[in-house]
Amino acid sequence: MIVTTKELFKEAYGKYAIGAYNINNLEQIVGLFRGNLGKIAKNEDPCDSATSAPFIIQISRGARGYTDKRFLEGMIRNADEVFPEAIFAVHLDHGTEDVCYDCIDSGFYSSVMIDASHEPFEKNVEIVKRVVDRAHAKNIVVEAELGQLGGVEEDVVGSVKLTDPGQAVEFVERTNVDSLAVAIGTSHGAFKFSGKQGLHFDVLEKIQKAVNAVKPNFPLVMHGSSSVPAEWVARINNAGGAMKNASGVDEKQYLPAAKLGVTKINIDTDGRLVWCAIHREFFRDHPDKFDLREPGKIFMPAYAEYIIHKNQMLGSAGHLEEVRKVLQK
Ligand code: G3H
Ligand code: 13P
Ligand code: ZN
Repeated sequence: MIVTTKELFKEAYGKYAIGAYNINNLEQIVGLFRGNLGKIAKNEDPCDSATSAPFIIQISRGARGYTDKRFLEGMIRNADEVFPEAIFAVHLDHGTEDVCYDCIDSGFYSSVMIDASHEPFEKNVEIVKRVVDRAHAKNIVVEAELGQLGGVEEDVVGSVKLTDPGQAVEFVERTNVDSLAVAIGTSHGAFKFSGKQGLHFDVLEKIQKAVNAVKPNFPLVMHGSSSVPAEWVARINNAGGAMKNASGVDEKQYLPAAKLGVTKINIDTDGRLVWCAIHREFFRDHPDKFDLREPGKIFMPAYAEYIIHKNQMLGSAGHLEEVRKVLQK
């Protein structure tokens, strides 16, 4: 069942964060749905209420252009039929104004992100407000970003600018946006920290306090939150990869962030690492094989298992049935 992020955030706020996972192909979609339902091996396995979770499926502009956006849309609609127990939002990740309008008009997306964070404050406000007005007219919710993460994001190489708490208040009031992505020290990709840097919880706390004073329980979003697990990086490197000094966000920081109002945590890189390790290992160990389904059959359950683990760290695991009950009221 496709729902808005707003409905999911209402239940999660202050308790746990919803995993927002990027997808690009069929195997990722299958692994993602299985994992969020606590199934590992087969689509037909019973749903596990102890680990099943509501989630957000994210589509970037790069994902839309990889083949044709309609293929992803079709696969997600079909996944909704194959996995009728799933409760999820369909979200555009890092949209431009034009792409947001395309998604809003498509009738398929329940949530869009307009990312004008690279623009000066006034222009960011102006653009976000236009998108919010168009999206809200169709009951679609909007995420925007204030501040700048480091790392590479789509075709923009960012330099870090932490979100200013005072500006965040003015931004959410003037734009009427539904959630806000904040820059608190994370960055996109597999090389997040070169030394002992970490998240700026002091800044997050100030943002939450300031924004909640004008909009109680206002959902915050953390991009660039993959943990880049050392064991997956080692598997990649042992199978011919060259990912030196890769590092990510400590998963133990997800829940403390959730308690400070972060209700959506974005994960893309980790999924790519799992895919890369499995495929590298398969072709290293079976140089004679060329059937793409063989590594795919290993990847899907491995990814499902990884999603279960991730949801446990985010605190969303085990909350699916509770969310279903609230939505059915
Ligand atoms: O924030 C960027 C996401 O990880 C999407 O990456 O544009 O390569 O699909 P992508
Ligand atoms: P990662 O690169 O840390 O997975 O971040 C993904 C993201 O923020 C997508 O918007
Ligand atoms: Zn992002």
